[in-house]
Amino acid sequence: MEFLSKYQTALQERLVDTVLVKEPKQLYEPIQYIVSLGGKRLRPILTLMTCDFFEVDFHKAMNAALAVELFHNFSLIHDDIMDRAPMRRGEETVHEKWDLNTGILSGDAMLILAYQLFESYEPTMFQELAKLFSKTALEVCEGQQYDVDFETRDDVSLSEYIHMIDCKTAVLLGAAMKMGAIVAEASESCSNHLYDFGRNLGIAFQLQDDYLDVFGNSESFGKQIGGDIISNKKTFMYLTAIEKSSASEAETLQHLFSISPKDPSDKIETVTRILVASGAAEATQNEIERYTQKAFKCLDRVAISSEKKDSLRLFGDWLMQRTV
Ligand code: IPE
Ligand code: IPE
Ligand code: MG
Ligand code: MG
Ligand code: MG
Repeated sequence: MEFLSKYQTALQERLVDTVLVKEPKQLYEPIQYIVSLGGKRLRPILTLMTCDFFEVDFHKAMNAALAVELFHNFSLIHDDIMDRAPMRRGEETVHEKWDLNTGILSGDAMLILAYQLFESYEPTMFQELAKLFSKTALEVCEGQQYDVDFETRDDVSLSEYIHMIDCKTAVLLGAAMKMGAIVAEASESCSNHLYDFGRNLGIAFQLQDDYLDVFGNSESFGKQIGGDIISNKKTFMYLTAIEKSSASEAETLQHLFSISPKDPSDKIETVTRILVASGAAEATQNEIERYTQKAFKCLDRVAISSEKKDSLRLFGDWLMQRTV
């Protein structure tokens, strides 16, 4: 999308400087590695764009945007350890390329680097940003813990799942936008509506991520397809399939999600078939659309021009249709 390129260019320039390698190399190389692999940079773009939309120079929000992206990349390194994931952004995950300890410590360092970036803001703004950041980071940890807990539970409800993805993913999108609003000194009410926009979009985003984990293409998606099935993740799609399929298919699903076969290919194939046949895949698409529309509703009371709101809707539509 053309209107994003000014943020992308400015961000890329600063990101490169933020992750320069120094001694000890074993600590800093993985940080540069994961960041250099790219990614969509959604969260920092949301921070910069939000600040810009309140007519404040978006460069002022750059350090907050960098902090959000570093935090996100830190969470990916640790998430890949927890999810036993072999591939990220089309390349080897950090713990596979190096080892577990390297992934843990480089991740920790990234989290601290993220905090450091807020130090450039004046005390009042610093406090507001750091407070939101800490609250959000803790919620992400809570979400990640639920996600892991759910792998071995067979009684996860849909509302528990939504709460889990709200914590692990959506609050960070909301916070990314709110940080842009904080830097722009927007009103409390506008900041909060944008936070809610980001959060609902974040839920749609994670639902889409779960969908692509099964139906995506590993070349464009950059991750192992079927990873969530292998790890017995209780996604919206899985929970819906249990509800919608016949008793015997539901039983098959439940059984398959209680085992971890050495060769998972048959399991992935069977589960994928049931997800489609039960209508759960389609229901997930509808749910993505529903949360995206819910996000758009939050824009009604934000004091920015309708042209800017259109850009945010365009961004939302693009997210919903993504394959990456
Ligand atoms: C991946 O996030 C983790 C989720 C919350 C689903 P992204 O899909 O934004 O990852 P990158 O940064 O573009 O690689
Ligand atoms: C990731 O959820 C959430 C966080 C990284 C906090 P996933 O585990 O679904 O993300 P991917 O699919 O590995 O990117
Ligand atoms: Mg993962
Ligand atoms: Mg995970
Ligand atoms: Mg995923």
